[in-house]
Amino acid sequence: MDLFEYIDSHRHEHLADLKEFLRIPSVSTKSEHKPDIERAVQWVASALRDAGLENVEILPTGGHPMVYGEWLKAPGKPTVLFYGHYDVQPPEPIELWTSPPFDPTERNGNLYGRGTADDKGQIHIHFKAIQALMRTHGRLPVNLKVMIEGEEEVGSTNLWNFVERYRERLRADVLVVSDTSMLAKGVPSVTYGLRGLNYYQIEITGPAQDLHSGVFGGAAPNPLRILCELFARLHDRNNRVAIPGFYDDVAPLSRQERRALARLPWKKKDFLKTVGAPGPGFVPEKGYSIVEQLWCRPTLELNGMWGGYTGEGAKTVIPAKAWAKFSTRLVPNQDPVKIAKLVERHIRKLLPKTMKCEFRLLSMGKPWVAAYDHPYFQAAHNALERGFGRRAVFIREGGSIPFVTQIYDTFHVPCILIGFGLPDENAHAPDEHIYLENYFGGIKAMAYFYGELGKL
Ligand code: BES
Ligand code: MN
Ligand code: MN
Repeated sequence: MDLFEYIDSHRHEHLADLKEFLRIPSVSTKSEHKPDIERAVQWVASALRDAGLENVEILPTGGHPMVYGEWLKAPGKPTVLFYGHYDVQPPEPIELWTSPPFDPTERNGNLYGRGTADDKGQIHIHFKAIQALMRTHGRLPVNLKVMIEGEEEVGSTNLWNFVERYRERLRADVLVVSDTSMLAKGVPSVTYGLRGLNYYQIEITGPAQDLHSGVFGGAAPNPLRILCELFARLHDRNNRVAIPGFYDDVAPLSRQERRALARLPWKKKDFLKTVGAPGPGFVPEKGYSIVEQLWCRPTLELNGMWGGYTGEGAKTVIPAKAWAKFSTRLVPNQDPVKIAKLVERHIRKLLPKTMKCEFRLLSMGKPWVAAYDHPYFQAAHNALERGFGRRAVFIREGGSIPFVTQIYDTFHVPCILIGFGLPDENAHAPDEHIYLENYFGGIKAMAYFYGELGKL
């Protein structure tokens, strides 16, 4: 049977198999899900074996395990390293899901469930593309190494040691990843840049214990109020981060790149609709388009803040402590270590003497951007056209994938990021979904892509 015929005639089976994978709640951040992580590991290992890969192994990392498999019987052909992650974000708030997060459900051409777009649905595309090649040709057009991790959503903190340790086993001519998005529906995309991410948590302590807000209020320092004031001072009126030195190493955008970005079929209307705020008025960083801001400019975002009483009804209290989680997205050539120091120093400087501060850096990741002139990129472009009947565009994105930077820094090989998600598919949020035509089109495009790589 011909490759595309095989893929078309297995749509039902492929989807049923994906749903089985999605039913495993492999949430990496919560220890109560450790048994589910273990189930997902076994599921991925058997999926790789079913696809025809050999030497499938579960490798320890110090954290959640890595699943590895390979097929190295194409002498003289390029060696491809495919990477993805089987872990998912927590589903909360669960009451906002239309159908349960771990009970995958089809509605109007989409499949809903945690992990559909990020990243189980996307790695499944490759599992099925590889299997289709094996079943129809009895072999692969390239040498292939597959590595699926379980800690991407928590910053891949054990990955650096892992890459060092398995350096030779991971060596390849090209890295392929599907963990990003298309620019828009009907616009297949290849991503050539990602932002880096530093994630922080602070705990500030004022009073020695909680205080009655009537007895002490007005004269005792309130950590929650201090925390609000602190974060209010971290941006200026032009929406720039107000930390001295923060922008010092930011690489300016070339005129050529700015022109290319401005020509993309990106629609502000779609962006505003996806954001869904009740009205306009958010001021972008002065001097930059929204696309430039999202993909090429650094940010500081407050991700969570808590302390004091948050239960039902009222409780008049001045809390002893307040907490915040926040992060900085980084762009070339910012150095995550240097940025972490600048951020900590500035925050300590802004806090009054009435507060003690514990500052923690939870994870760190470098930005990545690369030229897309290597023939591998042309192969990706051709394959997307074959799979989707549309010309692909080259984009950068604002999200982060620590592994991409690590492999790029370790081997300096081309990294081809082909995303099958869409910007409005609610990754990390309730009602996450994947557009099924992108899932099915992706299987065809990736099967064809491996074939094209085999010609190089
Ligand atoms: N798949 C995303 C990264 C992504 C999303 C890249 C959209 C480009 C477009 C990935 O799973 C993710 O969520 N990464 C985290 C980083 C991590 C260090 C926790 C992120 O970007 O917040
Ligand atoms: Mn992801
Ligand atoms: Mn994610």
